[in-house]
Amino acid sequence: MKKILVINFSQTGQLNAIIDNFLIPFKNSAIDIDRMFIEPKKPFPFPWSTKSFYDVMPETVLEQPIEIYAPKFKHNEYDLIILGYQTWYLSPSMPTTAILKNEQFCNLLKGKPIVTIIGARNMWLNSQESVKALIKNAGGKLVANIPLVDKTSNLISVITIFYWLSTGKKDRKWGIFPLPGISDEDINESHIFGEKVVESLQKDNFSNLQNDILKLNKIQIKTNILFIELRAKKLFKIWANTIQKKGTTPKKRALWLLLFRIYLNVALFGLSPIVLLVYNIVVRPFTFNRIKNKKEYFCTIKIN
Ligand SMILES: Cc1cc2nc3c(=O)[nH]c(=O)nc-3n(C[C@H](O)[C@H](O)[C@H](O)COP(=O)(O)O)c2cc1C
Repeated sequence: MKKILVINFSQTGQLNAIIDNFLIPFKNSAIDIDRMFIEPKKPFPFPWSTKSFYDVMPETVLEQPIEIYAPKFKHNEYDLIILGYQTWYLSPSMPTTAILKNEQFCNLLKGKPIVTIIGARNMWLNSQESVKALIKNAGGKLVANIPLVDKTSNLISVITIFYWLSTGKKDRKWGIFPLPGISDEDINESHIFGEKVVESLQKDNFSNLQNDILKLNKIQIKTNILFIELRAKKLFKIWANTIQKKGTTPKKRALWLLLFRIYLNVALFGLSPIVLLVYNIVVRPFTFNRIKNKKEYFCTIKIN
């Protein structure tokens, strides 16, 4: 009997729901599933206060692991490991970084196929680069990545997700905005990805899995999001380092976090619409191939 380990963290339950649906074909195929959750020793607040939401930025971006309860795995070895995670500040969420830097978990990854499932707002490119590097460091083999995102426009989804995460209410802000998060339709149909993974697991051959997943035509990268992601992480790192360096007392840290908050809101709502408009008119038509290559790079997986 094939044995798989499935592990993730989720605050709102969104990622749990995606993974539950993804796992339906595994349950129908009598596969032994070890379902685990990452448990931070100091729980993150939910709903988030504005202060706590920004306060996790520096340590998240600099990938400094938090303390988690020691994971208790059912087996010493698995045929496949499925890691679900969410993006925080263009980086893996803090519980995800913690598990990827956990010695016991890293030992399980060695030489094993790994599938990542992402439940983010709409930005997962940078965080997946970090996750890829951490998996590689541990000697694991990433064989597929399944990112699910909120498909509403970037700025609308910033408003709706912040409303959801700061109130705990998954309804329409002021009764007019779209529902926050990944659509129920996308969550409910994530079993289609599970079917592809089960097929590969049964054959013990993952070499074509990512291609099979891409053929479902459900994973797309928007050019505007690619543009933002290719630039924003460098700036986040500068901010994260500065906040840690200058924020030596709670008062100073609070001041630097406030400056970051102002910067982020100006960049998102003031600058990005103008920069993207200019980019789309002046640059984009002449960089078609570069955009295509970049999207291909982020969507495909090289298995060695
Ligand atoms: C502190 C914080 C920062 C986040 N930053 C991002 C981000 O940079 N990009 C993104 O696409 N989503 C971001 N999200 C949204 C999460 O990826 C995720 O969709 C949401 O938190 C729900 O996940 P859950 O399964 O933990 O409930 C952020 C969420 C939190 C709490």
